[in-house]
Amino acid sequence: MRILILGGTRFLGRHLASLALARGHTLTLLHRGHSGPALFPQAEHRIADRNGALDVLARDTWDAAIDTSAYVPRHVRSVAAALNGRVGHYQLVSSISAYASLAQPGTAEDAPLAKLADPTVEAVTGETYGGLKALCEAEALHAFGPAGCCIVRPGLLVGPFDPTGRWTWWLQRIQRGGSVLAPGTPDAPVQFIDARDAAAWMLDQAERGSTGAYNLTGPAQPLTMGQFLAAACASLQPAARLQWVDEDFLLAAGVAPWSDLPVWLPRATQALHQTCIARALAAGLQCRPLAQTIADTAAWAAQAAPAATSAGASIGAGPPRPAVGLAPECEAALLAAWRQQAKAPDGGPEA
Ligand SMILES: NC(=O)c1ccc[n+]([C@@H]2O[C@H](COP(=O)([O-])OP(=O)(O)OC[C@H]3O[C@@H](n4cnc5c(N)ncnc54)[C@H](OP(=O)(O)O)[C@@H]3O)[C@@H](O)[C@H]2O)c1
Repeated sequence: MRILILGGTRFLGRHLASLALARGHTLTLLHRGHSGPALFPQAEHRIADRNGALDVLARDTWDAAIDTSAYVPRHVRSVAAALNGRVGHYQLVSSISAYASLAQPGTAEDAPLAKLADPTVEAVTGETYGGLKALCEAEALHAFGPAGCCIVRPGLLVGPFDPTGRWTWWLQRIQRGGSVLAPGTPDAPVQFIDARDAAAWMLDQAERGSTGAYNLTGPAQPLTMGQFLAAACASLQPAARLQWVDEDFLLAAGVAPWSDLPVWLPRATQALHQTCIARALAAGLQCRPLAQTIADTAAWAAQAAPAATSAGASIGAGPPRPAVGLAPECEAALLAAWRQQAKAPDGGPEA
């Protein structure tokens, strides 16, 4: 097939590009040439900024386009106009953040989407990101038609080349060993997907011309925070000791869920980690063993430049991302205060 990826040189798109080439597809990548200009010499690169003219798309046809870099509806509109019908199938990477609410477990694809008070807004922030993705979806359906497009709503993407530093932070923290502050309770649900598994599934759908909307996260069977952290300890640092710290204590101490302690969500918002992935599973989603994602991500992070594994404000066109992870001295102070409060012996209650 002739496949066009709008993006393709950073994380999810990078895995998509790599796999598309491995499967023998003819690949075109559209990007600005900032993120990975030397990647994929076998592909054709068309250099353009999506915020400007897309004349570079004015020739050729593609069987499928996969859009990893649309953040405002104008991005989708301009690609549709530039392609002008010369693509068989369009796949938009949206997000589970596009839902109006993730307050209840089991959010499925027919749940209402977020609505922005001002739909003309273009600033991508933590507040507007989901509503803008919902508008991108509406634009895709309008421009390519329901029979010509597929909407993919990933949850937390993890694995090698993850530029956000979130999930990777836990692996690096556990590798340091000692008492590791584990937030909340070990039975809290968590969902995330190896971006390589997401890419494989997305490429399958592009090859089949699948339509409709799909939540895309994992694993196939429910996973808990305790199982995730225990697997990371087993794989990376068996001597690390998890010390579970009550969420009320952490919240009262000002610890920010998701950023200070990535992946962690307090009980009231844990349904974000319980979205329904039945449709994606029925369409063939396969998630590799957690231990493999842990080992591969740790190996990548060990040789990557520090900037590649720690988030900052400079992650392309997406919402600004705060730095993630507690500083070691902050974690130690919290653990000491928790032990004192819980009157636990040094080392505390462990799991
Ligand atoms: N990370 C998560 O947990 C998560 C969860 C849910 C949904 N998502 C969504 O998943 C997608 C993942 O993106 P990714 O970064 O991994 O994809 P990617 O395709 O690997 O990287 C982004 C690509 O877009 C290009 N790009 C960025 N801004 C551009 C512009 N203005 N004009 C042209 N090209 C541009 C970048 O290249 P240049 O910089 O060289 O231009 C790069 O090739 C996003 O849509 C995100 O909203 C992510």
